[in-house]
Amino acid sequence: MQRFSVVLFLFALSLQSCDSFTALGVLGLRCAFKVRVVNFSKTKEKWSEEACRDFGSRVKKFGIELEEVTLKPAPGPPKRTVIQQREEEGKELLSRVDVGREKLIVLDERGDIMTSHEFADYLKKCADDGDRGVTFAIGGANGHSEEVQQTARRQGKMISFGKMVMNHQVARVVLFEQLYRAMTIQHSVPYHK
Ligand SMILES: *[C@@H]1O[C@H](CO)[C@@H](O)[C@H](O)[C@H]1NC(C)=O
Repeated sequence: MQRFSVVLFLFALSLQSCDSFTALGVLGLRCAFKVRVVNFSKTKEKWSEEACRDFGSRVKKFGIELEEVTLKPAPGPPKRTVIQQREEEGKELLSRVDVGREKLIVLDERGDIMTSHEFADYLKKCADDGDRGVTFAIGGANGHSEEVQQTARRQGKMISFGKMVMNHQVARVVLFEQLYRAMTIQHSVPYHK
């Protein structure tokens, strides 16, 4: 009886918050994999909002919990140096990431170039390894701090969408499309040829 109420308690806890990882483990249950996309710009272009909303809702249909966070850009030149700006934004970003329980994936032109299959496999591996989710970070106006890059190298990945430069709005759309593509690859849904 006592044991039963413990289980019940853990179950209630896990329903209440997916962070009760242990409780879920005990029950052999799994929370939805969480994908968070963090950026530093509120600039809204209608076309990119629409595209991200569309791909985002398709991603969610695969049981993924998708969250977008916009952080306030830190002051840059002439008030502060570019390095100070990156560091400040980096601290704010890292304070949101639960390192150890989730991966930090930084989009950066110096990052690894992956195929869509490798991307899909990487995300699957994160989930299989028991990560709670992944946080994708699109850098601020002047890119990512050293600390953010190191954290991503250690506890995640640096990814580049290719050698051509694209603006943040486009990168965000590409990310959402690749997330959707990754889901269709993982679930063998015909979309990716
Ligand atoms: C940053 O993300 C928000 C949603 O959280 C979005 O509305 C905005 O357009 C994004 N900014 C860029 C530059 O993509």
